[in-house]
Amino acid sequence: MPATILVGAQWGDEGKGRVADWLAAESDVVARFAGGDNAGHTVVVGGAVVKLHLVPSGILHSHVTCVLGNGMVINPINLVKEIDRLAAMGVNISPSRLHISTKAHLITPAHVALDGAAEKARGDQAIGTTLRGIGPAYMDKTARHGIRAGQMANLEEFGDALQRAIEQANKILIAQGAEPLDATQATGESMDAAARLQPYLRDTTLYLNERLKAGARVLCEGAQGTLLDVDHGDYPFVTSSSPTAGGALTGLGFGPRQVDQVVGVAKCFSTRVGSGPMPTELEGELANWLRGTGENFWDEFGTTTGRPRRCGWLDAVVLRYAAQVNGFSELVLTKLDVLSGLNELKIAIAYEIDGKRHDFPPSTVSELERAQPVYETLPGWRDNISRARRSDELPQATLDYVHRISQLCETPIRTISVGPERDQLVEL
Ligand code: IMP
Repeated sequence: MPATILVGAQWGDEGKGRVADWLAAESDVVARFAGGDNAGHTVVVGGAVVKLHLVPSGILHSHVTCVLGNGMVINPINLVKEIDRLAAMGVNISPSRLHISTKAHLITPAHVALDGAAEKARGDQAIGTTLRGIGPAYMDKTARHGIRAGQMANLEEFGDALQRAIEQANKILIAQGAEPLDATQATGESMDAAARLQPYLRDTTLYLNERLKAGARVLCEGAQGTLLDVDHGDYPFVTSSSPTAGGALTGLGFGPRQVDQVVGVAKCFSTRVGSGPMPTELEGELANWLRGTGENFWDEFGTTTGRPRRCGWLDAVVLRYAAQVNGFSELVLTKLDVLSGLNELKIAIAYEIDGKRHDFPPSTVSELERAQPVYETLPGWRDNISRARRSDELPQATLDYVHRISQLCETPIRTISVGPERDQLVEL
């Protein structure tokens, strides 16, 4: 049985965690393939909110085995903390249920310090990274002097590599006027984490190919989103990995013929954290309304950073592009319940840039910054739809809104979410 790839269609935070949790019920293996603990996937089970940064959402299903793939960058200290937090909640997270690719790269304290220093040096051109060391870790990987997870198997070798990485980083930090790291402390904490993680190390390329050959169903859980992809996103306001469908293959190590579904996840309005263009961004009352206030976890504040998300109308230009880049077989639309109460809803169906109409985003940020959305207005709905479980329990205006989005991005929408709980899904 083949694999399903699940990816974000916007700028991340589309609700991939809850969709991954739903699809995991029908999967044998759930594997992350890109990024690291910059991700924040939220799953709500029976009112309990579980926030995952590195461990795939599948861990909450006892029959699922989870994989941290070779395309990831992993902070061992934070992974140990996450494992301990999940274990304290009663989740079985033994090495038989979680495999870390020996080829994944590690995020060291040096990378975290360098991420902070680089952002500071960028001044008002800062990317607004999550400060988790993601960019510097991928830089070391491509520069071919990174540290791979497999090196944790030999603590002496790992300690030496870490020491060298910290000495190297300290030279850069001092040159940038930043505080150097205390090498002993930074090395000690990472060594302790490495010792804890040794039983989880595995050649996951072999493992995944063997499981696929034996008929297992593999869910590839994407992080971030299409517009944050280092190739296809709003460069340079992107992350440093390939969170799109192509990245799943290089980030896990099996071929495209294993994949039978590519599921995109989109929120029914737009949000973005960090800097970079966002043509449909709103300000004021409406933005605050979409962002949410009060105690609802579903509010638009970053799961990893706690920063308020920028909010705006749904951008179908972005979705059309994401459908093209990833080849979606279907799109899952999340958070429809949040729109209840608005009299009318706008969708950007194209951009106007310097007097010319664009159906797809331009490839430069400067053009994108000048993009004026061409809006279409649809009627809203006032009913609370969070209790709907069947499509005939939804207002016609909700169905029309979903249908129009599907038309605009030429992708079927068969499932929508109307709340964060596992059962708050409607099959159309
Ligand atoms: P980095 O991945 O920490 O280097 O951050 C690069 C950009 O991607 C910044 O704009 C971040 O806010 C954004 N970003 C990274 N991970 C996520 C995510 O999981 N959700 C939303 N935005 C993210």
